[in-house]
Amino acid sequence: MSLSLSAERREPPAEAADGAWLECIECGDTFAPFDAVRYTCDDCDGLLEVRYTDLPSFDDFSGDGVWRYNTALPLESGVTIQEGSTPLYRVPRLEEDVGVEALRIKHEGMNPTGSFKDRGMTVGVAVARELGVDRLACASTGNTSAALAAYGSRAGMQTLVLLPAGKVAAGKVAQASLHGARILEVDGNFDACLDIVQDLAARGEAYLLNSLNPFRLEGQKTIGLEILEACLDDYDAVPDRIVLPVGNAGNTAALYKAFRELVQSGALALEDVPKLTGVQAEGAAPMVEAVENDADEVRRWDEVETRATAIRIGNPVNAPKALPGIRETGGTAVSVTDEEITDAQRDLAGEGIGVEPASAASLAGLRKLRAEGVVESDERVVCLTTGHLLKDPDAAAAAGNDPEPVPAETEGVLEHLQR
Ligand code: F0G
Repeated sequence: MSLSLSAERREPPAEAADGAWLECIECGDTFAPFDAVRYTCDDCDGLLEVRYTDLPSFDDFSGDGVWRYNTALPLESGVTIQEGSTPLYRVPRLEEDVGVEALRIKHEGMNPTGSFKDRGMTVGVAVARELGVDRLACASTGNTSAALAAYGSRAGMQTLVLLPAGKVAAGKVAQASLHGARILEVDGNFDACLDIVQDLAARGEAYLLNSLNPFRLEGQKTIGLEILEACLDDYDAVPDRIVLPVGNAGNTAALYKAFRELVQSGALALEDVPKLTGVQAEGAAPMVEAVENDADEVRRWDEVETRATAIRIGNPVNAPKALPGIRETGGTAVSVTDEEITDAQRDLAGEGIGVEPASAASLAGLRKLRAEGVVESDERVVCLTTGHLLKDPDAAAAAGNDPEPVPAETEGVLEHLQR
């Protein structure tokens, strides 16, 4: 199995070009990175990973944002809107309330289009340009479509997005629309959209930029690199645990890959690798089911439902890359109710951190695991919040205070305030 923190590094194959190649995680077959459009293994259809001749150490990194880490990426520069370098917030009140040694919030909602997807797109759209394709496509619960539309338009390329009708938050559709994507509203859920867009990509109709695309995950790897660097600066150690919301499990796979590469380069000790801890909504928790049952494969859920529409996903396509990451780092996965998600969204808002529901799943999951004693009081934990509050204004308004009507004169306002 090539997905192991302690795997031996293999010699670069003949297909390696510019220091990188693609490798199948199932059969180990290798491919040149930019010679053809390819999302999965030609031979066994397994997921592909980008592999490198040289692996990064912390000293190699310079500059800001995602491209600070270009020595760990397949290209030197990309189609950028200044993504990355997101804040890692201290939250002393929440830290005490949850009862852990240290708690930090990595707020990916502070990216240009308001979610972590920008990190994947700055790389993925640049690779698309390298490959010479002209139309980009994705299925999306919303954020991927917003990011693809923005980065596609910046690169001067056509974009096509397939969204589950009626299940995408308003802010995300507005973004895809204004950035000029063609928006197809599919009468089905996200997983059905992804099936269709994969078919379209296989027929050469468009270049697929969902997280099945191995280049996108390279950009998302930088979340892990930023967290480690920031924690080393902050408290001189890497965190014990990173808690993150899970949909397609792309981030889980990407963070695991970041840590694997650092371990292989000798920049991170095996015993210091943070425990990857995934959180899903109860109504869409196939990864949690697989972790709890110690299963090798994830069962596709055909019916999924949650207020956290971003993670309303029943078929996590990156599970083969993410499950080993959760297991091997000593992490776990947990599901939370929509009410717990909304409570956590309010908790974060109370610290001035505005996130969309899916993002709050990380804090909700941490609370639950702490209450169960799975997370211990001496742990240093980072919760990843993946998208901005304004992505889903309806959910925010429903979770927050109602506006109070008052007359248009001071006396009337004062009277109202005294009531
Ligand atoms: N959080 C937010 C806000 C998301 O938009 C997503 C995924 C996730 C978490 C899950 O991340 O897939 O890496 O496990 N959104 C995708 C989309 C599916 O279409 O925007 P993952």
